[in-house]
Amino acid sequence: MTGNELRESFLKFFESKGHKILPSASLIPVNDPSILWTAAGMVPFKPFFTGAAKPEFNRVTTCQKCLRTPDIEAVGRTARHHTFFEMLGNFSFGDYFKESAIPWAWEYVTENLGLPADKLWVTIYLDDDEAYDIWHKSVGVPSERIVRLGKDTNFWEIGVGPCGPCSEIYVDLGPERGCGSPECGVGCDCDRYLEIWNLVFIQYFKDEEGNYTPLANKGIDTGFGLERVASVLQGVPSNFDTDLLREIMDFTAELFGMDYGKDEKVDLALKVIADHSRAITFAISDGALPSNEGRGYVIRRLLRRAVRFGRLLGIHEPFLHKAAEAVIRQMSNAYPELSDREKHVLRVIRTEEDRFGETLVQGTEILNRLIEEAKSAGGSVISGEDAFKLYDTYGFPLELTQEMTAEQGLTVATDGFTEAMEQQRRRARSARQETEYISERDAEFRKVREELGETNFTGYESLSDRASVLAIFKDGKRAKEANAGEEIEFILDVTPCYAESGGQVSDRGRLTGSGLEVEIIEVVKPVENLFVHRGRVIDGIIKENQQVDVAVDLKRRMATCRNHSATHLLHKALKEVLGAHVNQAGSLVEPDRLRFDFTHYTAVAPEELRKVEEMVNQAVLSNLPVDTQVSTLDEARDMGATALFGEKYGDRVRVVKMGDFSMELCGGTHLHSTAEVGLLKLVGESSVGAGLRRIEAVTGEGALRYINAKEEQLEAVAGLVKAAPNELFQRVENLVQTIKQLENESDALQAKLAKYQVQDLLDCKREIKGVTVLAGQAAAPDMDSLRGMVDLLRDKLGSGVIVLGSVMGDKVSLVAAVTKDLQSSGLHAGKLIKEIAAVVGGSGGGRPDMAQAGGKEPARLAEALEKAYKVAEQQIK
Ligand code: ALA
Repeated sequence: MTGNELRESFLKFFESKGHKILPSASLIPVNDPSILWTAAGMVPFKPFFTGAAKPEFNRVTTCQKCLRTPDIEAVGRTARHHTFFEMLGNFSFGDYFKESAIPWAWEYVTENLGLPADKLWVTIYLDDDEAYDIWHKSVGVPSERIVRLGKDTNFWEIGVGPCGPCSEIYVDLGPERGCGSPECGVGCDCDRYLEIWNLVFIQYFKDEEGNYTPLANKGIDTGFGLERVASVLQGVPSNFDTDLLREIMDFTAELFGMDYGKDEKVDLALKVIADHSRAITFAISDGALPSNEGRGYVIRRLLRRAVRFGRLLGIHEPFLHKAAEAVIRQMSNAYPELSDREKHVLRVIRTEEDRFGETLVQGTEILNRLIEEAKSAGGSVISGEDAFKLYDTYGFPLELTQEMTAEQGLTVATDGFTEAMEQQRRRARSARQETEYISERDAEFRKVREELGETNFTGYESLSDRASVLAIFKDGKRAKEANAGEEIEFILDVTPCYAESGGQVSDRGRLTGSGLEVEIIEVVKPVENLFVHRGRVIDGIIKENQQVDVAVDLKRRMATCRNHSATHLLHKALKEVLGAHVNQAGSLVEPDRLRFDFTHYTAVAPEELRKVEEMVNQAVLSNLPVDTQVSTLDEARDMGATALFGEKYGDRVRVVKMGDFSMELCGGTHLHSTAEVGLLKLVGESSVGAGLRRIEAVTGEGALRYINAKEEQLEAVAGLVKAAPNELFQRVENLVQTIKQLENESDALQAKLAKYQVQDLLDCKREIKGVTVLAGQAAAPDMDSLRGMVDLLRDKLGSGVIVLGSVMGDKVSLVAAVTKDLQSSGLHAGKLIKEIAAVVGGSGGGRPDMAQAGGKEPARLAEALEKAYKVAEQQIK
């Protein structure tokens, strides 16, 4: 059975058991700051297990792309370690439990895959007698092949969220694969017993402090590793030998002109490259980009590790983008998003490969210097801080530093590295926490929502509503009422106020009742569908259960809608003008402006920006109707809506359509027609990271303000040069010409003046021990002219020492020169100037033939010049 067939067979089996087949979610977890990557099939479903969100289907099955990074070093060196892998699974959200999950797993493994029952073993969690009974009594597994294991192996949890005990299925691959120890059995580290399926009985919620609370509804989460089961079915010794990875290894081997299976060093490199190129390709296609921290660093590190393994085989040309092409060819049937983003993925990889080439040069130089320094100081260790700096600033992976250091017989103090890294993490974490109001009070608000129900948001249609006050919080604590002057949070049954989400800032507004007035400053959604208003009581007393009127701040809302609708037009226009690789990477929609980050590799040229602006404004002038409709994610994708990464399965999504020009999934508030945008002006374009650009723009009144400000600037400039705005260009052009002319004239005059001065200065020369020494004060506007005068004097004297000083404002400049013929006599311009600069409170130095200096005491210039004669005299041997 090929890998592709196995994937298909698993999903079809569970479809026949009433499961909905869903596509894989993104590798970048949505709304889950507790983990970096989607590392298991259940990750996208956390909210369904906890009840925080309602799924459209209670039984689903998926093949989830997963990324795990703790064992990067082991990849390629063992039969089973991967960073990227595919996990098949079946899930129940409060539907079936162990009684079905266990027999189905057995049925699939023995009947559909045909694995012999007498080669299978199962494990259960210590005291899980319920699972034991099902395995033994209903399925018929003999009791001696049911092993009880502890929390280390048979309890599943990942980050914060749903978790529970589990039961695993193992295949006995035969004694010839084993370690031969008499204790060898299920759970042994050797290769004999291979775990192929993990059935998790989800029944707890683990919070940030590590407390476990039972969940209201139990669920099932299973994980079936595609690559390892394929290796069993294909009878090959490692996951790398399955068709899933072999194709990529064979491709790379051919590219390198080498063979797999002949040389261990080559095999190791091919395995590493195959694994890492899959990880990078998938991660980048899901929107991650190489950088120096977090996810970005994982990608950078994987990419660099793969490239380095290529280099160890003598491959210095970029090759990884080609391996990525092979990955896309092989996998895009199962993951169509890969071919959609192929160009982008390959370009990012290629750019990063090139960049690593440069990094290697730069980092190697620095490291070599560090190694030299350590050696000459008699040391043998590179400090952890230095290694961290190399990593942090030059993206030089620690392992690379270690390897190169080892080649020179030195080591790296990894403790110091870990400590420096930890410090940086702590800094990052505390910076994050300050803004993460949501995660802190998440659990509390979940309870509030259970008690009070979800908020009914009416703000798409109306801007005011009648509501009842369901709860009031003062300093985070429930209160029955609040008085004028108090800052509060409150929850209403109904609200027209938009809560901050999807990059759009929240509404502001006003709540009124008899004698009551509350200013609404911000609205947030700490948990799905619960709107929490923050505000201040201006007048009266707000009470729980009171009936009130809520009104949205209309002007702010409209300005925000203008910027949001314009953002959609901008997104589309960027795709049209720059290409389909443009994807939204971040967006901020405020009343005053909009900010849009997107994937693109170079600065957007001015003429491209103009085209984009024109295209958006064309769409504005065309007065396109803005329609919204709610549909399922699949329907929306079929219609061709631009979906960002991270919509969740089963979600009802909102599709926002602007004529035939733009169609996006979006939960934000919009205009009725594009004409209401008024006008869009782009006001900035900049880089915000590798392959990421940012555009800022204004619309409506913001655009008017922007244009007015420009006009005022123009008028101010016109006033300054005394011209009417329409004559401004001509006037400034004339001025520029006049200035140039004056400069030329002034230069000529200066030159003449210098000559006259030189003539006068010659009077200062003295003969000292047979050497001509000239020290004088000149009037020079800058250092250049002063040096020019020294040159003239040198030409005139032919041989001698020349020192000139000039007062420039409240500073002094000094230049000294010694003609070449006198240098052997001990005269040194650099040393000379140093001594006399000290007189005028300055410092300086330079070469034996020419030096300059500055000082701060013009009043002592004459004294300094007089000293020059003495110093010269002392210098002459
Ligand atoms: N979530 C479980 C695992 O990844 C099934 O092993």
